Amino acid sequence: MEKIIKFGIIGCGVISNWHAQAVQSIDGAELVGVTDVYEPARLAFAEKYGVKAYDSTDAMFADPEIDVVCICTPSGLHAPLAIAAANAGKNIVVEKPMALTHEEIDNLLAACKDNGVKMAVISQLRFAPGVQALKGAIEEGRLGKIVHADLRMKFYRSQEYYDKGGWRGTWKMDGGGALMNQGIHGIDILRYLMGPVKSVSALARTLVRNIEVEDTAVAILEFENGALGQIVGTTSINPGSPRVTEISGDSGVITMVEDKITAWNVEGELPPKDAMFDPDNAVDTSNDPTNFAITGHIRQLTDMVDAIRNNREPMVTQYDGKLPVEIILAIYESSKTGKTVYLNN
Ligand SMILES: NC(=O)c1ccc[n+]([C@@H]2O[C@H](COP(=O)([O-])OP(=O)(O)OC[C@H]3O[C@@H](n4cnc5c(N)ncnc54)[C@H](O)[C@@H]3O)[C@@H](O)[C@H]2O)c1
Repeated sequence: MEKIIKFGIIGCGVISNWHAQAVQSIDGAELVGVTDVYEPARLAFAEKYGVKAYDSTDAMFADPEIDVVCICTPSGLHAPLAIAAANAGKNIVVEKPMALTHEEIDNLLAACKDNGVKMAVISQLRFAPGVQALKGAIEEGRLGKIVHADLRMKFYRSQEYYDKGGWRGTWKMDGGGALMNQGIHGIDILRYLMGPVKSVSALARTLVRNIEVEDTAVAILEFENGALGQIVGTTSINPGSPRVTEISGDSGVITMVEDKITAWNVEGELPPKDAMFDPDNAVDTSNDPTNFAITGHIRQLTDMVDAIRNNREPMVTQYDGKLPVEIILAIYESSKTGKTVYLNN
């Protein structure tokens, strides 16, 4: 019989429910325990899922039963906790963004390497049939020469959303705003589809919300493959609308809404059926951050279980997870300096 892969969850807030339910739905995975600095949260969460509550992250790290920890805390704690987990010899699943600064990225990569642990960075959209179909079409040259890539994320988040929890909208714990928190999903997909970004010129502003970080940003990109692109990311438009990604080549154009294909304009081709937008089953986080299915987390944690079992790298490693963060940091730098920023690919 295959070894059961045993999980612990750090942080018992909103997203940890997706992790707990995903782990408990996977054959050959087991949720052993959870922890949170806030005692009532960890006790209630442990009871809800029928698992043990550790008094501290150190207690969880010290438990030899735990193979992998899911880090579901505010973003500013991702890198420090992941480094501590790596030093304790635990494999890691970390929520996005994996780190907030270049220094944190370097320290985290070193900690994983030195301790020989595996790390998966959550980017649940990568596993969607729509994203995979679009990636395949680009790689096989079915869009011809790629000319332009477009990401439009016009979301709505209320002031209450930012005020709740106290960490959202702060540089220290959120690391940024509309891009570092919400936009990172689409930016990761854009980078995955298009390859390395050569340069960015950007404006990031706080237009509506009372927060330290940007609620609205626009960026112009040049990709290493020669294509041009643009990112619009905001959480201040009411009502919000679902995220749109559109890749245009000299012989085809494909449009995706959230992670589903809405237009597949490639001569003589039809898109795979399971990748297509289905209005009857459409969910999106444009107005409600919790309105998304668990499927993506199940797919990504299943991939991590398989990676640990078969001693291979997971599909989204720390080397992948750092890429959207670097693009977002370049956007912030460009906005601050008024200059085009060239990425160090
Ligand atoms: N993948 C996605 O689609 C998605 C969706 C939502 C949130 N997220 C990410 O998940 C993370 C958490 O977001 P959330 O909305 O669940 O936040 P939340 O505020 O609801 O929950 C965070 C929890 O972490 C706990 N915590 C704080 N410091 C801790 C520490 N040192 N040790 C242990 N626990 C600690 C808090 O008490 C709280 O219960 C963020 O980084 C966010 O970017 C990802």
